[in-house]
Amino acid sequence: MKLQGKHIIDASDLSVGELNLIIDLALRMRANIEEFSELCKGKILATLFYEPSTRTRLSFESAMLKMGGSVIGFSDAETSSVKKGENIADTIRVVNNYANIIVMRHPREGAPLLASQYSEIPVINGGDGGHQHPTQTLTDLVTIKYYKEHIKDIKIAICGDLLFGRSVHSLLKTLSRYPNIEFVLISPSELRIPHHLKDSIIEEHNVKIYETTSLEECINDVNVLYMTRIQKERFFSEDEYIKLKDSYILTPEKLKYARKDLLLMHPLPRVNEISYEVDIDPRAKYFEQAKLGVFARMSLMALLLGRGC
Ligand code: NCD
Repeated sequence: MKLQGKHIIDASDLSVGELNLIIDLALRMRANIEEFSELCKGKILATLFYEPSTRTRLSFESAMLKMGGSVIGFSDAETSSVKKGENIADTIRVVNNYANIIVMRHPREGAPLLASQYSEIPVINGGDGGHQHPTQTLTDLVTIKYYKEHIKDIKIAICGDLLFGRSVHSLLKTLSRYPNIEFVLISPSELRIPHHLKDSIIEEHNVKIYETTSLEECINDVNVLYMTRIQKERFFSEDEYIKLKDSYILTPEKLKYARKDLLLMHPLPRVNEISYEVDIDPRAKYFEQAKLGVFARMSLMALLLGRGC
């Protein structure tokens, strides 16, 4: 297992063994952060964000700073030379001289993959269009491991925009490689998971998938409920978005039917799909999930930079 120098573009770039290594180190970091405060001293992270972000960019920055490293980058491509017409390949070749590791978010699917082909330093995909978001998945796995103690024998319902939601796509691809995972996929019929993704995870991993349009139908029978927002920016028509945007709203009334030990997750940002009254329910862990995302990213970067231990 050698993570040093790797690019992380797709959920499948990491084996289960590598995923577990990252998760375990993340949880050790959570337990004793001081021990790791100089781990990436002298290292520079470049954050190249061509699309809005709060958690992903700031948690990467916080992660590098907590390990004693530094951060450069842009959060708005309009303020970079992209505005003058520079292409990704040239930007990446230049940034290679300024940093030791790159995280890139881009509205175009495949942009971080292209970037990695021009990079000698690790490129991490911070979300590309409606495609993949592997570090959100690391965050999700760390959260499941932290609260459920293991990543196996889990029935997980994923609810919302399963067509465009990149965190959903990465999570499905990754979790389906763990033992005895069952998926309940809840979405409006217009926003079901892409066929190719469904076919490939069933073919490769023989996982059980049940698709439904009803949250009420299955909320009582799952260990984990992963809510997601409807991805407004990926819709072709505003009317279609308005029609679907409030398809699911989780309220305390609906949660009454869920298990006492349910783990309620959301990659955030939340729009309308979880009512604010749910936040005080002890099963709601989405803010803790965002916090664990810092440790997931610390661990990943340390290992890619050859500083993991
Ligand atoms: C997700 C994303 O950007 O795909 N956000 C995040 O990184 N936590 C989910 C979303 O935007 O809905």
